[in-house]
Amino acid sequence: MNGVSGRMGYRQHLVRSILAIREQGGVELSDGRRVQVEPLLVGRNEAKLAELARRHGLEHYTTDLDAALADDRWQIYSDFLVTKARASALRKAIAAGKAIYTEKPTAETFEEALELARLADEAGIKNGVVHDKLYLPGLRKLRRLIDSGFFGRILSVRGEFGYWVFEGDWMPAQRPSWNYRTEDGGGIIVDMFPHWNYVLEYLFGRVESVYARAVTEIPERVDEQGRTYKATADDAAYAVFDLAGGITAQLNSSWTTRVNRDELVEFQVDGTHGSAVVGLFGCKIQPRNATPRPTWNPDIPDGHDYAADWHEVPPLDLNGAEGFENGFKVQWEEFIRHVAEDAPFPYDLLSGARGVLMAEKGLESSRTGARVDIPEVTAENLRELAGTVDGGAR
Ligand SMILES: NC(=O)c1ccc[n+]([C@@H]2O[C@H](COP(=O)([O-])OP(=O)(O)OC[C@H]3O[C@@H](n4cnc5c(N)ncnc54)[C@H](O)[C@@H]3O)[C@@H](O)[C@H]2O)c1
Repeated sequence: MNGVSGRMGYRQHLVRSILAIREQGGVELSDGRRVQVEPLLVGRNEAKLAELARRHGLEHYTTDLDAALADDRWQIYSDFLVTKARASALRKAIAAGKAIYTEKPTAETFEEALELARLADEAGIKNGVVHDKLYLPGLRKLRRLIDSGFFGRILSVRGEFGYWVFEGDWMPAQRPSWNYRTEDGGGIIVDMFPHWNYVLEYLFGRVESVYARAVTEIPERVDEQGRTYKATADDAAYAVFDLAGGITAQLNSSWTTRVNRDELVEFQVDGTHGSAVVGLFGCKIQPRNATPRPTWNPDIPDGHDYAADWHEVPPLDLNGAEGFENGFKVQWEEFIRHVAEDAPFPYDLLSGARGVLMAEKGLESSRTGARVDIPEVTAENLRELAGTVDGGAR
């Protein structure tokens, strides 16, 4: 587990996923057997790793990544480093023949992301990329609504993601400062578009083009050491995506907005037969036969409670993944099954590369002001594309 002392590495991957899996006695396989996990904490600061190991009663930690990769006891290399440090570490782990499980974005440029997918393919190693939003209870309920045909023909998707990230002067910022510096791999497009790509692709259809406007709303922030720095990265992005099948998606991503919704991310899906609003946990629906019939009248104050016209969808399995399970953990379990018994796992480095490509095209759109087409990236055209990409537009 490389980068395990970081925000994501520690909370979501170590504590909420791997330690939780250990505590429950491992991951259950299809034949009822259980496979247990043993983490090796990897990082640059030995004292920090020792303290983490002590706190959680863990045996193994090291600052020597190469030695860890050379050691056959460790089967999966997982990566939660800052984005900038990821590609070089992944390259080494692929060369060492480890299975790979990594945070997104998989690389800083599409060219590099594609190269990683190709190397993993050639090495024949199992690989997976965090697609955590698909595992959120709210989005799992949405998946079920789509599969059941609830929406009829889906027309559009509108998403709002964001909250106010403090500048760091009088109130400490709640995200690491590198996120606000392009030169350190930051930016909301680079951070969020990889998520939007897999959410749109796996729920609604391939993203065929993007129009995006990326802005740096807050030009100066204060870092972890109390130093003022120039925020060079985009902290808000307003985007429209065209999806296969004619669905339009508009998604706002912002660290400079104040929340006036039920959750920090919310999607509204409108279809001919019904609509849904989903968040991390919640999912409410309005079928067409329970849709109110508003008429526009600016002369009469409208006392109707529109929020009351929606019906909350309960989880199917009240205690399982749709209920309270952590999405990172559920995806880890699937990946471990993929490694242990070859269970299917579609969210690979190629899918990760498509996410990086969408971020790159989003930035290109913002720079040029044009709508930008997104080429298809599949296992079939992987080699072809690897020879033609133009070095990454960023
Ligand atoms: N899936 C999600 O929802 C989600 C959310 C936030 C962040 N992320 C991704 O997770 C990754 C980590 O983000 P974070 O917020 O935890 O960041 P963080 O700064 O808290 O942690 C980064 C880790 O990388 C290590 N590190 C920093 N520079 C390094 C270098 N040059 N060489 C080796 N190690 C280095 C740090 O010591 C730390 O352990 C990023 O790629 C980010 O895009 C994903």
